[in-house]
Amino acid sequence: MAKTAAALVVAAGRGSRLADPRTSVPKQYRLLAGQPVVTHTLNALGNHPRISHMVTVIHPDDTGLYDDAVSAASKNWSHKLKQAVFGGDTRQVSVHAGLKALADTHCDYVLIHDAARPFLTHDVIDRLLDELDAGAEGALAATPVVDTLKKQKEAGQPLETIDRENLWAAQTPQAFPLSRISRAHENAAQSTRTNFPDDTSLAEWDGMTVVLSAGDPSNFKITTAADLKRAAQQASLLTMPETSHADRPLSELTDIRNGIGYDVHAFEDGDAVILGGVNIPHTQKLKGHSDADVVLHAITDATLGAIGDGDIGQHFPPGDSQWKGASSDRFQEDAMRRLSQMGGRLAHIDVTIVCEEPKIGPHRDRIRASIAEICRLPLSRVSVKATTSERLGFTGRKEGIAALASVTVRLPFEETEGTAP
Ligand code: CTP
Ligand code: MG
Repeated sequence: MAKTAAALVVAAGRGSRLADPRTSVPKQYRLLAGQPVVTHTLNALGNHPRISHMVTVIHPDDTGLYDDAVSAASKNWSHKLKQAVFGGDTRQVSVHAGLKALADTHCDYVLIHDAARPFLTHDVIDRLLDELDAGAEGALAATPVVDTLKKQKEAGQPLETIDRENLWAAQTPQAFPLSRISRAHENAAQSTRTNFPDDTSLAEWDGMTVVLSAGDPSNFKITTAADLKRAAQQASLLTMPETSHADRPLSELTDIRNGIGYDVHAFEDGDAVILGGVNIPHTQKLKGHSDADVVLHAITDATLGAIGDGDIGQHFPPGDSQWKGASSDRFQEDAMRRLSQMGGRLAHIDVTIVCEEPKIGPHRDRIRASIAEICRLPLSRVSVKATTSERLGFTGRKEGIAALASVTVRLPFEETEGTAP
C-alpha cells in the first residue's frame, strides 16, 4: 500500500524583508490574483492525492487573516486540514510545533513547506515522495545555481568568484519520514539549538542522510517586494481565465451576452447559512435539497441564462437524490462547462443578496473571493452587494434569503447566426 503523507506549512514569520509602509499584512497573507499567498500554497498541497493530513503553523496575531485565507481555499480538500497551531520566534521552532501537531496522524511521511512559496507543483511533490518511497531518509527540492556567484568580504574589497559547479539552491518542500524528523527536531530542541535555517540542515546535524530532488524555478520564495511583484504576475498568468477557462483572450470574444438569475430559500432550524460557498454562522440555516446556497444558485441560473441553456432545476432536478446536500459549486461548474463548450468565458458577475439577517457586510470580502475562485475569475470581475428590504415582504419578515445575479459572458461571434451586432 502507498505510504501516507502529511504536509506542514510554516506561516508564522513576520516577513520583515518585505516590510511595506502601506500595510501591516505579512507577506503570506498578501493577495495574489485575488487570493492570499498561503491560500495558493494550501491549495497546491491539499489537492495532491497522496497528502492526507495538513497543518499550518501561524502567528497568534494572524488568526483572522488565516481564517479568511482558509475560507478562500478550495473546499475539495478542506477535510485534510487540521486546526492551525502557533509557531515561535524562529522557523525551526515553528516547524517543531507543526510536527507535534501531526504526531497523531501517524502518517509515514511529512512534507515541510514554506507558506511563502505558493507556486508549488505536483511534479515537485511527486519527485520528493518517489525519493522517500525508494528509501531516502530525507529529500530536498533544489535547483542548480545558474548565476555565477561572487563573494565580497567588505565593500571595496576584490570580488571572489565561487565555482557554481555542484551548487544547489535549496527550496521547500523538504520531505522526511514523519517520526524520524520529529525525533531530530526533538533532539535539536533539547540541545537548545533553535536556529537551523531549514530542516535538511537540522536532519543532517542529527545524522540523517538527505538526497537532492529536482525543484522548480517557479517554486520561488517570496522574500522581497520585487518577489511579490513577480509572484503577482506569475499568479495572474496561472489563474486568469485566459489559461484556465478557454483558449481565446476576452478581446477576441466579441459576442457579449448577459443573463439574470434569481433564487430564494426559506430559513429553517440550524446554525449556519452557506452563501457563495462561504459558511456563515447564523441562528438558522437555509432549507433546500442541495446545500441551499442561494447566491451560487442565482449565479448558475444567470450563467445558463446568458447562454440560453435552460435553468438549474432543469439540469439538476430537485427530486434527484444524487444532488441531496450537494455543494452548489458543482452546479456552477456544470454551467461553466456548457459555456466553455461554446468557446465562451465568464467576464463578470454582479450579485445582490437580500436579507435582514445575517448581516452580509462582515462576510462580503470572503464571499466575493469564494465566488471568484469557484468561477475562476479575478476578484476585479466579481461584485457582491447586499441590501435589506426595509422589513417588507418575506425577506423583511426574516423568513428567508433572496439573491439576484447578473452574469456577463463573452462568446465567439458566429457569422452564421445572422446580422452582426
Ligand atoms: N516562518 C515561521 N516561523 C518563523 C519564521 C519563519 O513559520 N519564526 C516561516 C515563514 O512564514 C515563511 C517560511 O518560514 O513561510 C520561510 O521564512 P522566511 O521567508 O524567512 O519568512 P519570514 O521570516 O516571515 O521573513 P523575513 O525573514 O523576511 O522576516
Ligand atoms: Mg525569516
